[in-house]
Amino acid sequence: MLFGRRPPYPTASERAHRHPTDWRNISEQRALLSPQSTAQCHHRYRTRGPSAGPDVHSSSPTPGPRRLHPRESLVPGETLNKVPLALGMTARVYGYLLEHTREPQVLRQLREATAAVSGAHMQVTPEQGALLGLLVELIGARRVVEVGVFTGYSSSAMAMALPPDGKLVALDRDERPLELARRFWQLAGVADKVELRVGPALESLEQLLERDGPGSYDMAFIDADKRSYDQYYEFMLKLVRPGGLIAIDNTLFYGRVVEPEANDKAAIALHQLNVKLLEDQRVSIGMLPIGDGMTLCRRR
Ligand SMILES: C[S@@+](CC[C@H](N)C(=O)[O-])C[C@H]1O[C@@H](n2cnc3c(N)ncnc32)[C@H](O)[C@@H]1O
Repeated sequence: MLFGRRPPYPTASERAHRHPTDWRNISEQRALLSPQSTAQCHHRYRTRGPSAGPDVHSSSPTPGPRRLHPRESLVPGETLNKVPLALGMTARVYGYLLEHTREPQVLRQLREATAAVSGAHMQVTPEQGALLGLLVELIGARRVVEVGVFTGYSSSAMAMALPPDGKLVALDRDERPLELARRFWQLAGVADKVELRVGPALESLEQLLERDGPGSYDMAFIDADKRSYDQYYEFMLKLVRPGGLIAIDNTLFYGRVVEPEANDKAAIALHQLNVKLLEDQRVSIGMLPIGDGMTLCRRR
């Protein structure tokens, strides 16, 4: 999911201190997303005044799709549902989607543990995790490479779907969240499938290409610094075999790709990549409105 900026709303640990029950488990998420509680929340927002935080409905009496800044939150204290809501899905429908998404207990626990970590909003959503696992199964992937591990949700989801002799090479440059990732790879029983390489991803990808050779991976997932996505994509086109899959996260980027502001370099980079992918005959593509957009590319 999103990389980088710290949200202006309270951090997860601050929220946990103030609201100890926030996002503790999925049934609470569902309760929070019920039509009644959503209406209460919207009412609270509308009546709290400008100093109380972002009033996401102030510009229109009828909530509709709007460009939501990643640091805004529709539900105070929430880290999970703002992305699909930002793309125009209603809280009620997203609640239903979550209710019908399989999330293994260990991944739910990882999401709960991540809520206390700075940057928790960067984690992929449960339905993205489920999709990534399904894709691993669908293409019969045995070797996967991921750029952007954070606390390990997407890597765990994919590694859990790999066969026992499967392997996932996980790349990240920041040691801090990786402690949690390592712990949850153990808990999920996939630690022996994961090879972690810490350092700038472009360097690691260069090393992988040299060590493993072209076409040596079945699937890649790109979810790191947005301005390098094009370079990651070009590397993945070398590393992934013909017929293999490259999944690129954030391709709708909260809707900001539609009319990127001049100083929004990440949105501009993602828009330029989307334009390139549209014409790129090296791949077949499918762009999905899941999370904040995920494009699937099958290498031809
Ligand atoms: C959006 S988060 C990844 C979320 C993760 N896929 C998940 O499901 O929780 C992005 C990650 O990319 C990493 N990252 C950013 N720039 C990087 C770079 N140049 N090289 C390696 N990792 C990088 C960050 O440290 C961060 O952990």
